[in-house]
Amino acid sequence: MHIDLLPTAESIVPAELAGCTAVVFDVLRATSTIVTAIAHGCRGVVTVVDTAEAQEVAARLAGENTPVLLAGERGGEKIPGFPHGNSPLEYPPEVVGGKVLVLTTSNGTRALNATIEGAHTVLVGSLLNARAVAQKACRLGRDVTLVCAGTQGKFSLEDTLAAGMVVLEMVEMMAPGWLCSNHQPPSLDLADLAVAALHLALAYRENPRRAFNRSHHGRKLFSMGLAADLDWCASLNTFEVVPVVKAAKKENGYPIIEKC
Ligand code: MLT
Repeated sequence: MHIDLLPTAESIVPAELAGCTAVVFDVLRATSTIVTAIAHGCRGVVTVVDTAEAQEVAARLAGENTPVLLAGERGGEKIPGFPHGNSPLEYPPEVVGGKVLVLTTSNGTRALNATIEGAHTVLVGSLLNARAVAQKACRLGRDVTLVCAGTQGKFSLEDTLAAGMVVLEMVEMMAPGWLCSNHQPPSLDLADLAVAALHLALAYRENPRRAFNRSHHGRKLFSMGLAADLDWCASLNTFEVVPVVKAAKKENGYPIIEKC
């Protein structure tokens, strides 16, 4: 099994993802929000790149009596006029249970939608469900591409850390003891960026929250008073849920993300 890593949404070439299992990461905060919402009983998440389009999709769903929540973020802030933002703490079971969440964000939804165009299977990853995602990717048995959304085209420490946690879990499942050896694990062929992410995970596995104090977007969200979001997004393996894109099952023409 080959494991590759793409550092930003801008580095995604959908055709190059054909046949693989892709895992998309936007730890601060889009994929952490999607994982939290699905774990709390959300019926499905529809990701949209454009703000106006998100409003249209939500209005159409409401018109069909589908219980829907419209959520969006730009620059870390809730989009003016949108009832909900991109904080995972906004989606406890009593708010999101049984509803469809229509979400648009700066980087995460762009990375998701570009990946959906090409990959065989798309899973939604974060620190909250890293182990569950690794188990699912191993079971699927296909080559894996870890897709980091990044921040405005730049490398993201937190996305790469979460991708590294998934590599670490997969190595420990498929090549126990390899970490102490000097060779490539027999069953796994890791791209260099996947190895680099693995070593980031080894550096921060005891306290991933520390990485957010050093990352560009982590420091920005902290300066905006969103420390509680950072604490939540840093909690490792809180959920067993693995959201997957059901490309075939379209909601108003859009792929929907549901529980696996
Ligand atoms: C993004 O998509 O860029 C992030 O999720 C933004 C954020 O929530 O701060």
